[in-house]
Amino acid sequence: MDFRWCREKVFFALDCNDWETAKRWISFFSPRVRAVKVGLEAWFSFGIKAVEEIVKNGGKVFLDLKLHDIPRTVERTVSALSRNNVEFLTVHLSGGRRVLRAAVEGSKSRIKILGVTLLTHLSEEEIDSIYGHKYKVLERMKTVAIEEGAYGVITSPHELHIFRCSRLVKVTPGIRIRNVSLDDQRRVASPLEALEKGADFIVVGRALSLDEESSLTTDMEVLKSNLAVLENNISRSRK
Ligand code: C5P
Repeated sequence: MDFRWCREKVFFALDCNDWETAKRWISFFSPRVRAVKVGLEAWFSFGIKAVEEIVKNGGKVFLDLKLHDIPRTVERTVSALSRNNVEFLTVHLSGGRRVLRAAVEGSKSRIKILGVTLLTHLSEEEIDSIYGHKYKVLERMKTVAIEEGAYGVITSPHELHIFRCSRLVKVTPGIRIRNVSLDDQRRVASPLEALEKGADFIVVGRALSLDEESSLTTDMEVLKSNLAVLENNISRSRK
């Protein structure tokens, strides 16, 4: 299997803190997915070493640091990161218009800035109690993302329709395959559903990295079989 659709559509979430596990995942997934996503756990465990290892294995880097600070700090942080081989970087849209603008300026067009909308672990009630009306908040975030030059947004599969007709690239986490449990995620969908609703890319972590006992695995056969299930699921949405 050549994993054509995974190479085009999937960001693999490198969510671990053990370097041997990370290295094995990086060597397996780098050539088989669109990019490897380094989130907070991997960043604080391995730092720039993770980025270098992905690049060494021929992969593309998605740094999911979900920056949320004052504009000057964000601009200088993005500028520092732009000296590395980072293709995508996340910034919270709830930081406001000037933070996103600072990120885009700091990237000097070397990094694609993705705006984080509402995290997928939040239930509808939690969103309402923190942000207020979900669709009003998302509309405002969309306007800011478009006007300030974000490359795309990270959004739940259930809110993709809000961004559908915009030029923003849509990245969707909260993906579940087979009967894998929801874990801490709430607003989830299958890869097929997410792509049919307009996602350009899907972020997949545990659905790829867990074995049948729900333990993190580096067993090549398990990783291959998980990826094959994902590939088949995506290819059905393409027919
Ligand atoms: O294991 P799972 O597939 O749920 O991993 C989802 C990944 O996507 C995690 O790395 C998480 O940090 C990230 N993410 C998310 N919701 C967002 C943004 C990113 O779950 N809104």
